[in-house]
Formats: sequence, structure tokens, C-alpha cells
Amino acid sequence: MKTLTLEAPAKINLTLDILGRRPDGYHDMRMVMQSVSLGDTVTVTETTEGFSLLAEDIALPAGRPTLEQQAAESFFRYLGHPMPGLEVRLVKRVPAYAGLGGGSADVAAVLRCLRALYAPELPRSALEEIGLAVGSDVPFCVHGGTCLAEGRGEVLTDLPPLPACAIVLCKPDFGLPTPELFTRVDGADLGERPDASAMAEALARGELAAVAGCLGNVFERVLTGEEGADIRAIQAALLDCGALGAAMSGSGPTVFGLFNDPVKADRAAEVLGQTYRQTYLAAPVKKFGELE
Ligand code: C5P
Repeated sequence: MKTLTLEAPAKINLTLDILGRRPDGYHDMRMVMQSVSLGDTVTVTETTEGFSLLAEDIALPAGRPTLEQQAAESFFRYLGHPMPGLEVRLVKRVPAYAGLGGGSADVAAVLRCLRALYAPELPRSALEEIGLAVGSDVPFCVHGGTCLAEGRGEVLTDLPPLPACAIVLCKPDFGLPTPELFTRVDGADLGERPDASAMAEALARGELAAVAGCLGNVFERVLTGEEGADIRAIQAALLDCGALGAAMSGSGPTVFGLFNDPVKADRAAEVLGQTYRQTYLAAPVKKFGELE
């Protein structure tokens, strides 16, 4: 029986800048993305027929194929082979609608499993191309590690890995609508922009304090009212607990802090966990091996 289980690491954005709206409605991005050890577990198993997705605690969209099914269909279409029966089983740990790419990581892990099971000769770049049709963050989630991501997020350049550190992630109890945030950014004066090149240099020097000093996300600039206040309160709490830097990930609302001292990170997770149920400790994850 063909079956494979892979981890599906979430991502954080060490920097996120939006360069402008494109004719296709998407936005050109310039961001530094990092895989983290908070992740789901994905198992793909060949079955006799059909496609099924099994997961606890998530509502699956009724009446239309899931992103996992769309990705699997695209994969076999790309190969020119009929799709076998497949069962995908998810163990979810990454919160949804959090800015952590949890859904994209699951889709990417399905593609990584399918490649290992059915087409080990297929280059990773082809898998990234198949993934882009399903979501802008999927190519990075197929790649893993530390990357400069441009275009919609699919033009990936490897960067030196994030130095060893502890990462505390904290998701407040509201969601932020990604398309609406992009629209708010379109009309906003964003002020000084996060500098992905400075971040790349800080990574090359391997200095966590310099990396922490370059964190930044333009979506933070368009958060007002209680939501903006909550994001800033979490950042302040992480810094109070000894984080070297803190920023929102993706289109939020999860905020993360980078710690060089694991004891301070444990304490920060404990303190923030008292107010925010969805608080997690994680570590950086390196680029996936060629066949992972
Ligand atoms: O690609 P994905 O389905 O994840 O994108 C979700 C939404 O985010 C898009 O419909 C679009 O509104 C916005 N988006 C964008 N530019 C990007 C990525 C996403 O405008 N590069």
C-alpha cells in the first residue's frame, strides 16, 4: 500500500512589503519567509477510488473540491496520469486564518507526498509551479527554509538560515480578512518600508539581534482600532519578556517574537498563554531535503 506521512511546517514573515497591485488583481510582494517547527502532520494514502480528506476540528467546504484535492488533481494532470484513489489525513496544530500559512503548508505537504510516492524525478520547481495555482504561499511551503519571496510569493531565492532561536507565536482571537487588508494597503501611506535586503545581510552575518532589528510587516500599518491595539499589545508583551524583536506574520493576526534565551521564551509563552489561548513555542526549520 502506498502511503507517506510528512510534517507540514507553518511559515512566518521576517519581513513583508507590498510593492503594488498587478493587472491580474494580485500584488507584487517582497518578503523574507521562514519555516517554523509549529506544523500539521499530513498522511497521503492510495485507496481504491475517489478522494477523501479526513481532519479533526476543521470545517471542510461543502460542494466544492478542497484545496488538497485541487492540488492532487493538478499534480496528476501535470504528470499526464489518471489520479488514483487518495485519502489525505490531517493532524491540525496550526491555527487557521492566522497569517501562518497553515492551509498552504497542508497543500504543499500533499504535493510533497505525491511527488515522493509517484514522481520522485519531478524537480521541486515543478511542484512549486503546481502549488502556485492553489495559493500564493504554497510554493514557499513546498520549498521550506529561509527565502526571499517575490512576485506573488513564488519567485524564491534561498537565504542563509535564521540563526538558532526560540520563536513564540501568539494569535489573538480575531481573524483579519486578507483581501480587505490588501485593499487598505493600496490606499495607504505606508511610511518607512521593511528592508528585505537589510534582512538578507543580517541573516548572512548570522546575527540574531540584527535579524530582530530588521523585522517588519506593512500590514501592521493598516490595522486600526481594537485590532491594531491588540497586535501592538502582544508585540510589547513579547519585548517585555525579552524578545529581541517582534512582528506580525503575513496578513495576521499572529504576532511572533524571536528569543536568544530559551528560558525567557518559555516564560513569554506562559505569560501570553494566560491571555491568548493560541500561544505556541517553535524553532526555525531548515530547507527541505530534495525528496522531502
Ligand atoms: O493566493 P491566495 O489565494 O492565497 O490569495 C488570497 C487573496 O490574497 C487573493 O485573493 C488576493 O486578494 C490577495 N493576494 C494578493 N497578492 C498576493 C497574494 C494574495 O493580492 N501576492
